[in-house]
Amino acid sequence: MTVMTKPQANNARTLVNAPALSPTAIVKPEMISVEASKAMDVARMTDLFKAHLNPGQLHFMKLLGFHKIKIETAEGMFYVDQNGRRILDFFGGFGSLALGHNHPRIIAAREKFQDEKRHEIAIAFMSQYAAALAHNLAQISPGDLDMVFFGSSGSEAMEAAVKIAERAAGPKRPKVVYAENSFHGKTKGVLAITDGQLYRGEFKLTDNTVRVPFGDIDAIERAFKTDPEIGAIVLETIQGGGGIVQAPAEFWQKLRALCDQYGVLWVADEVQCGVGRSGRFFAFEHYCVVPDVTAVAKSLGGGKSAMAAMIAKRDVYMKAYGTPKTAMIHAAATFGGIGEASITAIETLHVLYDEGLIENAAVTGDYLLSRLQTLQAKYPKIIKEVRGKGFMVGLEFHDFSQTLPMVLRPVVSMLDDKLKGSLSGFVGALLLRDYDVLVAFTEYNRNVIRLLPPLICQREHVDQLVDAIDSLLGRGIVAIVKDFVKSQVK
Ligand SMILES: Cc1ncc(COP(=O)(O)O)c(C=O)c1O
Repeated sequence: MTVMTKPQANNARTLVNAPALSPTAIVKPEMISVEASKAMDVARMTDLFKAHLNPGQLHFMKLLGFHKIKIETAEGMFYVDQNGRRILDFFGGFGSLALGHNHPRIIAAREKFQDEKRHEIAIAFMSQYAAALAHNLAQISPGDLDMVFFGSSGSEAMEAAVKIAERAAGPKRPKVVYAENSFHGKTKGVLAITDGQLYRGEFKLTDNTVRVPFGDIDAIERAFKTDPEIGAIVLETIQGGGGIVQAPAEFWQKLRALCDQYGVLWVADEVQCGVGRSGRFFAFEHYCVVPDVTAVAKSLGGGKSAMAAMIAKRDVYMKAYGTPKTAMIHAAATFGGIGEASITAIETLHVLYDEGLIENAAVTGDYLLSRLQTLQAKYPKIIKEVRGKGFMVGLEFHDFSQTLPMVLRPVVSMLDDKLKGSLSGFVGALLLRDYDVLVAFTEYNRNVIRLLPPLICQREHVDQLVDAIDSLLGRGIVAIVKDFVKSQVK
């Protein structure tokens, strides 16, 4: 078979009339095979990442030392790199690995589904898999959160949530309240209620929005009272991108009452904190309240598939899309409820309960919090706060940009504007390099390390993480910064 190399920009013009591009000759381009992609080395991977994915992002990977690593396999709590190094995963795919990597029951369910040659796309015919998953989610969800829409990302589920709320609220109430430091996704609709200047860029976003401080019930009441066009309020139950931030416990009951009083629909974004991470399936269950609409994603896919769901109260759904005339306005997308992802999610939900992973998130999550609080007491000048619920934990460092010795300040600020004054980047990089532990960072608060481990995480893993942080902080800030700076100039 003829194999064609892609014409380069500088010779594309001369190839315009070349026979290889004539409509009759279909030539297979030079492409990398599956096996060759698995065998690729770091240098080639870096070249391709630069050429085709995101050259700018490599800058940050280099800063953190992530660019030297090629993951070969992953199992349970660990990644294994090209040198056989086992990396303990407290990053957890930003909360998408509740069952850990490659859970055997998930693999078995998927293999069986493939062996049986089951169908995938659920557009022409109804899907028994999507129907079963929707039933299971309705069973899990409290109150009459019974109607489900499937998508393949958290953003897509949140788009569906905002759209259903807008339609149910009606054309006279199109405004949406959202919170400071919120993150609801990067697609164009939900970007309007995502509070990150970096992500919002200079896109033209809808201005039908009202921004309030997170957890401030008085600000919400003022907004509801003064603006009758407000039809919905969208909040993460625990803010993830904001740095693991919780509202006061009494906030949620008051919010429910206010929404009922003013006829405003409450949309709970559970994309990061849901699917058991907080120690309850939905984080709002801690407060004995039920929103009108919610969304889950990330871990719903069992760490092996892209699956997301918007779940709405039946009356909200019926108002929005309940008639034959309105049913197709936001009906399934091509990959919504796709077969293998649906059965993966079905098995994920079973494993979550069969293995007691939600309880484990609560119990071992408490242990993680208490060990980190002990660490905070040991290093009060370095650790500012430890907070969270279950396996959604934030470790906030003091901003040390002003306390660092004068000689180090210019070097650190030269390295990178984003990391300047932030210990979390330095600590994260050295935890990986010296202790084989991976932690996550936080978009809006550069001083916070986010810990979102798989819900299978045990005490021994917590001990490994906390002992590593303890040993690292024991070196002292100046040594940490000097070491980091040295690693960058090497
Ligand atoms: C709370 C929250 N909502 C929505 C999203 C968007 O999800 P996705 O990245 O799957 O589109 C995220 C992603 O991190 C999230 O944390």
